[in-house]
Amino acid sequence: MSLQKHHVRVGLPQQHERSYSIHIGAGLLTAFTDLIAPRTLPKQVLILTDANVGPLYANTVQQQLADRTVLVHTINVGEQAKSLASFTEVMTTLIEHNFNRDSAIIALGGGVVGDLAGFVAATFQRGVDFYQVPTTLLAQVDSSVGGKTAVNHPGGKNLIGAFYQPQAVIIDTNCLETLTPRDFACGLAEVVKYGIIYDADFFSWLEVNAQALLQRDAETLTYAIARSCEIKAEIVAEDEQEHGIRALLNLGHTFGHAIEAAAHASGDYKAWFHGEAVAAGTLIAAQYMQQQGEFTHADVARIERLFKQFELPIYAPEMPLSQWQGYMQRDKKVKAGKLRLILPTAIGRAEVRTVTDWDAVSQAILARSAPQ
Ligand SMILES: NC(=O)c1ccc[n+]([C@@H]2O[C@H](COP(=O)([O-])OP(=O)(O)OC[C@H]3O[C@@H](n4cnc5c(N)ncnc54)[C@H](O)[C@@H]3O)[C@@H](O)[C@H]2O)c1
Ligand SMILES: [Zn+2]
Repeated sequence: MSLQKHHVRVGLPQQHERSYSIHIGAGLLTAFTDLIAPRTLPKQVLILTDANVGPLYANTVQQQLADRTVLVHTINVGEQAKSLASFTEVMTTLIEHNFNRDSAIIALGGGVVGDLAGFVAATFQRGVDFYQVPTTLLAQVDSSVGGKTAVNHPGGKNLIGAFYQPQAVIIDTNCLETLTPRDFACGLAEVVKYGIIYDADFFSWLEVNAQALLQRDAETLTYAIARSCEIKAEIVAEDEQEHGIRALLNLGHTFGHAIEAAAHASGDYKAWFHGEAVAAGTLIAAQYMQQQGEFTHADVARIERLFKQFELPIYAPEMPLSQWQGYMQRDKKVKAGKLRLILPTAIGRAEVRTVTDWDAVSQAILARSAPQ
C-alpha cells in the first residue's frame, strides 16, 4: 500500500498549546495510533460513530487500541441524531463505564458524529482529549477543521455547542470509497468554495483534475483535501471565533440555507442536501456580483461548469420571493434587518458586504432559479 501522505498544521496564534496536526492519506486508518503519538493517548477511549460507519471502520481503529479500555458508541444515521438526547446517551455511557478525566473521545464518522463527539469531549468532566477521524468528504474538508462543535435544538441547528479543538485529525481517503455519490458531491461543493473565496490557482487545479476527483483517485483527493484543510486552517487561525474573515466560509450559505429550509418545511428532507444547496446558492451570489459589474460572466460560467462536472445543481428551486426573503432574514448573518452576504469579487477573492437593495438580490435569485 502506498501511503501518499500530507500533513497540515493548524496553528492558533493566541494559544500555541492548542495547535494540532491533520494527517491526510490513503490507508491512514490502519496507522491511527502511530500517527497520534500513542504515549499520549489516555487509558479509556470512546469511539463515537454512526450505524453506517461503525460496521465499516470501527474495528480497524479499535484493533489498534487493544491495550486500552475501548467502548464503541453507535448513534443513528442522520442530522436528527445530532441532538441533546444523543448527547445525554453518550454521557450516560461514559459515566456508567466509569470514564474519568483521563479519557479520549474519537469521532469516527461524518459531520454529525464529529460535531456531537466534539461537544461531548468539550463538556465531559469539563473537557477530555478529542480525536477526529472524519469519513465524509464534507467532514474531511470542513467540519473536522476549526473546532466548532454542537448539537441541534428543536428551535434551530447548532444552537448548543462550544469551540473545542481536537488533539489531531486523521483523514483516510480510502474511507471515501464507500460514500454515496450524492454525499461525495456535497463535499466537493465545499472544496470548490475554498477555491472561489481564497485561491484562484486551486480553483484552476480543480478544473484540470475534476475527472480524477470524481473517480475518487486517492492521490488527487489527498491534495484537494490537504489544500482545503490548509485554507480553512489559515482562515480559522486568523479568526477562530468568526468576528471577520471566517465569515467568508459561508459563501453561498445564506441562499443555501433558504433552499434547505424550504425543502424541510415541505417535509422533504432528501430533496436538497447541504452541499447541493450551497452550490446553487454560490451561483446566486456570483450572479448578483455579475449584475453589479463586479464579477465576469466568464467566471460565473467557470463555476457553473465545475459544479456541473461534480454533478451538483446549478439552479435553485423556484419559490416565491417573499419566501426567499423570509428564510434569508432568519439567517444568523442578518444584523438589524440588513442582509450581510458573502460575495465573490473574482475567482479567488470574496468579501462580506451589507446589501440593502433587495430588488437586485431578487433579480439574481430569479435568474438562477428553475423548476425542479
Ligand atoms: N463543525 C463545523 O465547522 C461544521 C461545518 C460544516 C458542517 N457541519 C455539520 O456537519 C454535518 C453534516 O456532515 P456530513 O455531511 O458529513 O453528514 P453525516 O455525518 O450525516 O454523513 C452523511 C452520510 O454519510 C454516511 N457516511 C459517513 N461516512 C461514510 C463512509 N465513509 N462511507 C459510507 N457512508 C458514510 C453517514 O452515515 C450519513 O448517512 C451537519 O450537522 C453540519 O451542521 C459542521
Ligand atoms: Zn457548508
